[in-house]
This record gives sequence, C-alpha cells and structure tokens, in this order.
Amino acid sequence: MNIKDRFNKYDRSGMLENILSLPDHIREAWKMSGDFILPRPSGPNPLVICGMGGSAIGAFLIRDLIKRECDFPVQVERGYLLPPHVGSDATVICISYSGNTEEVLKLFGDAAERGCNTGVITSGGELAGEAAKRNVSMMKVREGLPPRAAIGLLFTTLLHLMVNWGVYEITGEELNLLTERIELVIKKLTPESNARDNPAFELSKKLCDKMPVIYAGDGLLEGISYRWKCQFNENSKIAAYSNIFPELVHNEVMGWECSEEIMKNLFFIFLTDSDDHPGVRKRMDAAYSMLAKSTGEAVMIGSSWYGNDSPGRLERLLSMLALGDFISLYLAVGRGVDPTPVGKIEKIKKFLKIGEL
Ligand code: F6R
Repeated sequence: MNIKDRFNKYDRSGMLENILSLPDHIREAWKMSGDFILPRPSGPNPLVICGMGGSAIGAFLIRDLIKRECDFPVQVERGYLLPPHVGSDATVICISYSGNTEEVLKLFGDAAERGCNTGVITSGGELAGEAAKRNVSMMKVREGLPPRAAIGLLFTTLLHLMVNWGVYEITGEELNLLTERIELVIKKLTPESNARDNPAFELSKKLCDKMPVIYAGDGLLEGISYRWKCQFNENSKIAAYSNIFPELVHNEVMGWECSEEIMKNLFFIFLTDSDDHPGVRKRMDAAYSMLAKSTGEAVMIGSSWYGNDSPGRLERLLSMLALGDFISLYLAVGRGVDPTPVGKIEKIKKFLKIGEL
C-alpha cells in the first residue's frame, strides 16, 4: 500500500490536516490574541504557566524561546498545586485546550485565590466558565481539535504576549513571512513530496519496531525533544523517551551498558541547535561517538535541517516542531494505527470522574 492509501485508510480522524494547519493556526491566533493582556512580571516575580500534556507544550516552547534573555523566571506547572513562593505579584497563565482538565482547574482556582495576575487560554469547558466568572483575561481559541494539534494556537497566544511585553521581538509582518517559510518546510514533509527526499518519512521507516530516545541540549530544543516523545506516544502509539544534555551524561550514559538485546531496540535521535552551549555540543558529540560503538542506532538532526541559510530561533523551533509531528504521523500510519484517538488518556480521565476503568 502506498503512503497516500495508508493515510486514507488509517488517518480516519484527519490528523494530517491538523498538522498541515500549523501556519494557519499561527496566523489565526496572532490576529486574535492582541487583547490577551496581563501584567508583565518583573524582578523575582515569576511567570507561571500551568497546563497538562498537549496544553503544556506551548509553555515549554515559549520558555525555550525566551529563556536566554528573559529577566524574570518562567516556570511550567503540571500538577495540582502551585509552589508556595507563587504570590500575588506572580503572573499565572492557565492553559487547558478542552477547559476540563482537573489539574489545571485546581491550579486556576489556587492562582485566583492567591490574587495572582491570572489569565486563561482555552477553547471552552469549565475553565472558560470559571475565567468569565472571575473576570480574568481569557484567550478563547477555536474548538474541535485534539489538544496536541492546537499547539499553533496555544503557542502563538503566548508569543504575542511576549511580544507585547517586549520579551521577544517580531512584527505581524515578519511573522507572516515566517509562516510562509514554515509552509515551505511543511511542503517538504507532506505525503505529496518525493518520498526519498522526505526526511520525516525516511526516519519513520527506520523507527519501525524501535523505541525512540530523543535527546536535546538544555537550550532551544529542550521542549521540542519532549514534544517529539509525546507525539510518538500519542500519534504513533509507541513507547518513547526523552532527556536533556548536559545532565544525561552524568547518569543516563551508564544505562547504555544494559544488554545488547535492549540496546538494539533503541533508536537514539539527537536534536542539535546552533545555539547549543559549546560544552553541551562537545558532550553530545562524545555521547554520539560512544553510541556508534553500541548496538543502538543513532542519528543527529540539526535544527536547520531543511537547508535555509541561517534561520532565526523561532523558525528553527517551528520547523523542528513540524518535523517531529510528521515523523510521528508517518510512523502511525506505517504501523496501521489512527493517529488521533487517545483511548487510554480518556479512560483514565473518566476513571477519575466515575471511579472505574
Ligand atoms: C490530547 C493530548 C493530551 C491533553 C491532556 C490535557 O491530544 O495531547 O495530552 O492535552 O490530557 O487536556 P487539555 O489539553 O484539554 O487540558
């Protein structure tokens, strides 16, 4: 069966369409999010972004985009409780695409109670109701997407806020041009592009029956490596794992002394970026050479993989996002699974409500 037939057969809920919509979602959210206004944190007061799963990814990506320049701490909370140090001067943004995620509803209540400068990004649900009741700043994005496919909407809302705060610089016009370049990147990854020149399709074939282990430095691509892992889990329905340099050379490398049997089932993907710290890069190179002597396979992918001369940070971030999304998609249809349904995630949410699996 050729790849297009595979999409017709297995991508029954249209994840390809959703992933192709990334540039449209970016433009759409940019237009709508100018009114999402919140006080800029200053000094030691943090920006706290709360969200779970797919709704937390935009938070990680924005953190990675600004973390080397930003003069206030940025933290992402994925749990039920805000840390005690988050006080009324903190700015807290609660993101839940569905608006019904228990942890985020709790964090929202907690932030509102503490008198934090609180904002909400959602498509509706209970969170939208609570935000309206408490009259907090809210960005309502369009409904009907799997939360992880709303990344363009959620991320761009945060991006616009960072631009309004003067933390990141990009004009609407520049963003439009950038989305056009992302469209070109996506074109190289679609099922219509020549299969042999399509890096997403090529890598997905190598990942068949393997467990991807995705590594990145602690810079621009930290959240991206986690996104790739989650997309392998949710779209491709396979076990995957991610970790970060330099920390992993202080512990994880010892795990490569496990049995050859286990190692040969692992496929290591190193994501590199031109802004990686030189120390990080040296450690990545050393670790990569070590792996070459093992039974585990490894590839290194640079964030300028598509050949543009010197793409900016945002462009590198978004093109790596698109690449990972497409690999997970090809792997899904290659394995004969529908990328969209997330049965086990929903089952556990239901269990929490009704008490049985
Ligand atoms: C589903 C997905 C999940 C959800 C998570 C939280 O596509 O990616 O990880 O994002 O269960 O739900 P929301 O995003 O609705 O708060």
